[in-house]
Amino acid sequence: MRVLIVGNGGREHALAWKLLQSPQMQQVVCVPGNGGTANLDRCSNLPLSIDDFEGIARFALVNNIALIIVGPEVPLAMGITDYLKQHHLTVFGPTRDGAQIESSKSWAKDLMREAGIPTAQATVFTNAEAAQSYVRSQDLPIVIKADGLAAGKGVTVATSLDQATAAIAACFEGQFGSAGQRVVVEEYLTGQEVSILAVTDGLTIRPLLPAQDHKRIGDGDTGENTGGMGAYAPAPIVTPALMSRIQTEILEPAIATLRDRHIDYRGVLYAGLMITSQGDPKVIEFNCRFGDPETQAILPLLETPIEKLLLACAQGQLEQFPAIVWKPGASACVVMAAEGYPGAYKKGLEIMGVEQAESNGATVFHAGTQRKQNTILTDGGRVLGVTALGEDFGQAIDRAYAAVQCIQFDGMYYRRDIGDRVRPIRSSQN
Ligand code: AMP
Ligand code: GLY
Repeated sequence: MRVLIVGNGGREHALAWKLLQSPQMQQVVCVPGNGGTANLDRCSNLPLSIDDFEGIARFALVNNIALIIVGPEVPLAMGITDYLKQHHLTVFGPTRDGAQIESSKSWAKDLMREAGIPTAQATVFTNAEAAQSYVRSQDLPIVIKADGLAAGKGVTVATSLDQATAAIAACFEGQFGSAGQRVVVEEYLTGQEVSILAVTDGLTIRPLLPAQDHKRIGDGDTGENTGGMGAYAPAPIVTPALMSRIQTEILEPAIATLRDRHIDYRGVLYAGLMITSQGDPKVIEFNCRFGDPETQAILPLLETPIEKLLLACAQGQLEQFPAIVWKPGASACVVMAAEGYPGAYKKGLEIMGVEQAESNGATVFHAGTQRKQNTILTDGGRVLGVTALGEDFGQAIDRAYAAVQCIQFDGMYYRRDIGDRVRPIRSSQN
């Protein structure tokens, strides 16, 4: 079997690595891939742009690709799945209609309202004046969101009226292009955030292990928002009873309502949830793809052959598929970033010590790297995801940090508190 993965992050490296654990996997091709996927046995990088749908389709047809997995949201929102399906290719990832669940926050809010899914109360604005006068009448903090895709930068949790006003102005003045011409103003939720990545064939939906991300750049959840600085799984706050509520109150109604809208959604539905102090799950946002770094923490625990699971989703056969099997224990992923991230950063710095880190029992997923001859160079803001398993969180986290100590590049930065919240807790699976 040959599989093609679209994307070049840590998530895509983790997917390729997991696929290649299956003996029947002949070849994995990553478009465009990174320095990590370039280095995997039976894996190759294809230097096409992720929006070159025609080039991807042609390669897939000529090379007998059985399954295409789309990593990032941008090509999904642009309709890559629609295009590839027109060419009779098998794709894991929703169509453009389905991807609106991430690419338009107001569309997602409307779907949640229709489905009766618990979420923050929200109002949508298409002009600045109305939004400004509305926030003046509301309590603080308040959350201001650009409606469209804004590379993770479109959300402001405003703790002062000045901040809220500035965030609304930035949206309507075009900081996010057309993504900010519609603005969602939302009630501020408190509690613990969890990421539920669920796989679906549009009829049946099944969650993967719950994970928790660390979104802020600084220790103790301080500083700017990032794509995610580290993750662990399975998140103990999601007890089996809570997961069963998430299934019936959130995942199933979402898929049923997508179906009511004639959307055949096959791929990942990622629910970013707030678990309130009362223990109730509320949706902060939906994403139409695997989360990153959550995927890097979750996949090493997966026992079920991933290509079979994703193919069952793409082919509409998830209901008959056996229950997903997980390894016991816990997983932790520490992201190593370039100096300056999430702001401006340098590229092209040599990375050393990855082999030593891996010989210490960790798996080093590459996010922003490039292979040049026999060296690995930095090529992005989030550079590596150092992931380790353990019998419990303490062991997984210690192993991941021991491996981090082996790695060196100029200006490297990582959080020192990944998983501190769960360190004393034994994995619920043990
Ligand atoms: P997003 O870009 O939608 O993932 O949002 C970024 C982050 O903003 C989330 O991970 C939350 O930490 C925070 N956030 C978004 N919406 C809310 C909300 N309604 N209440 C509290 N925090 C929020
Ligand atoms: N880690 C958050 C995301 O993938 O959106």
